[in-house]
Amino acid sequence: MSELWPVPERVTNGAVTPINSLAAWREHWLRAANDPNGFWLDVARDLIVWQQEPQQGLVGDYTTVQDQPFAWFADGRLNITESCIDRHLAERPDDIAILWEGDEPTDTRAISFRELHRDVCKLANALTHHGIQKGDRVIIYMGMVAEAAIAMLACARVGAVHSVVFGGFSSEALRDRVRDCNAELVITQDEGLRGGRRIPLKETVDRALLGEAGVRRVIMYERTGAEVGMVEGRDISWADAVDGMAEQCTPVVCDAEDPLYILYTSGSTGKPKGLVHTCGGYITYTAYTHRTVFDLRPGDIYACVADVGWVTGHSYIVYGPLANGATTFMFESTPVYPDAGRYWDMVERHKINIFYTAPTAIRTLAAESDELVTRYDRSSLRVLGTVGEPINPEAWVWYREVVGEERCTIVDTWWQTETGGICISPIAPATPTKPGSATLPMPGIMPLLVDSDGHEQHGPTSGHLCIAHPWPGQARTVWGDHARYVATYFSTYPGRYFTGDGCRRDADGYYWITGRVDDVINVSGHRMGTAEFESAILVLDEVAECAVVGFPHPVKGQGVYAFVVMQPGAQPGEALEKRMQDALRQQIGAHARADRYQFIPGLPKTRSGKVMRRIMRKVVEGRSDELGDVSTLADPTVVDAIVAGFRGI
Ligand code: WT7
Repeated sequence: MSELWPVPERVTNGAVTPINSLAAWREHWLRAANDPNGFWLDVARDLIVWQQEPQQGLVGDYTTVQDQPFAWFADGRLNITESCIDRHLAERPDDIAILWEGDEPTDTRAISFRELHRDVCKLANALTHHGIQKGDRVIIYMGMVAEAAIAMLACARVGAVHSVVFGGFSSEALRDRVRDCNAELVITQDEGLRGGRRIPLKETVDRALLGEAGVRRVIMYERTGAEVGMVEGRDISWADAVDGMAEQCTPVVCDAEDPLYILYTSGSTGKPKGLVHTCGGYITYTAYTHRTVFDLRPGDIYACVADVGWVTGHSYIVYGPLANGATTFMFESTPVYPDAGRYWDMVERHKINIFYTAPTAIRTLAAESDELVTRYDRSSLRVLGTVGEPINPEAWVWYREVVGEERCTIVDTWWQTETGGICISPIAPATPTKPGSATLPMPGIMPLLVDSDGHEQHGPTSGHLCIAHPWPGQARTVWGDHARYVATYFSTYPGRYFTGDGCRRDADGYYWITGRVDDVINVSGHRMGTAEFESAILVLDEVAECAVVGFPHPVKGQGVYAFVVMQPGAQPGEALEKRMQDALRQQIGAHARADRYQFIPGLPKTRSGKVMRRIMRKVVEGRSDELGDVSTLADPTVVDAIVAGFRGI
């Protein structure tokens, strides 16, 4: 499908972004391409509150990145909470900053900028009271309570570096992250609530911190009031921590390039990497892209139903929207609780104008009766966003026609943890859309497609997606391991940022992301490295070798298929499969599950020992007839065994 869908009038009428037509997009894109420093300095000064306005644009680039990180606005000084809170407090203190809905639809809360300011200041003062200083690392391990956003902002207020760990991660995964960043303090809650189930967050923290002397304090928000153990001398409740703290807290002034946060994400090899985002560039880029892509208007109710444990929650629930003074919605539950009408029920009750979710949720809901959508009034909606994985045209059309009643436009936003914010996407009032295409690059983003030798391909073509020039929101380094950052992103195609995605560009210059070309699997928008899966499964004594590949899954986007080679004498079967699932849950988290296991006599390897995942991928995609020449394998007969043992998916 490649027909153009024009932007509906409801979206073009009254647009406030200056990019309100394709011609305007072109003009802005060209200006940013020809003069990136001038363009971004204007945006930064225009959208952000500075203690000292920057005069410098970019210092360094992709050719010098191996020596040191590049910098944006290096002479600028600011505290990003002044942009996110204080200035709105001055202008309209009683406007709603955070509109929260809990697991039960009746459990709602509206937090004004005045209240947000008070709560952030009190917690910031508590952090200082417990010895947290500028540059210290604080782990946040919470569910979708408003306090998670308050905790992030309180860290930023005192210049501490937060690292939010998604509340589904196991104690092992949490411990790895605590250790990697040397966190001194953890903020958590007693239990999470999701779909009527309780998630033992504090208990998981306790297990993660067994023997971790580096964490001196745990602050625990009481969400459910459950009886949980408190470690004497280490743990304190949120209520006790903020009790008696002053309601004002002078923001700690940071350099633009001071780290704002670390967020761990999976790659093709090794342990997750802690990507570092910095204050000035990140807040500039998230504020700019949020207002531009969605055409944020005064009074809009903006809802992104992601989790703050992922980058989408950082950039487009907390930082971008609050910097723009929007009312940002936070949702604790799931799209199917109490039933699959929950999103549209919320749209009706809160009069949501902009709604942003993931393709996997759209596919899940599209599989249910449309009546669960149409029974609610969705006339407030104007822009519908999607993020996290490629969206199939059928789901896109359903989103636009059934949910949006053809009045709304769809913004399919491509970006990554590494990019900090949206890079390729329609701009709501400007860009005619095509189902399945992320369309055109944002101003300041210069995509290019290269073949496997790194040669740039021009015109309509496909290739590996790279970006030619830094932008302010790009991650600067991997925490504690700059060499790994350089090796991962800048060594495959020297002088370019390599995204890890494959992509096609059509005759209109529209981009179509085809998915990862590395060993990263995207399950329901959760990014997971095959290496992490494999090392978790390899923990079992019965397992000699293991290789994990992704396969196309109708709802989750990708599923996980594990090929397992057992030790001599081990018994294959359900009992072993269950122990492998348990190992995954323990090492990574409940969201890490293999859909299928297949026991094989050996992995397909070249004579030099390289595992040929390409062959296994073809088999699970049902394309065993396209395996090509396997004669160079050390033992070609294993391929026959793999094909013979494959039972479909
Ligand atoms: C990977 C990044 C961006 C926030 C959530 C995911 C895939 C993301 C799209 C899209 C096709 C997409 C890519 C990318 N992806 N958005 N609109 N169309 N693919 O962040 O966990 O860092 O994952 O998600 O493969 O590389 P992440």
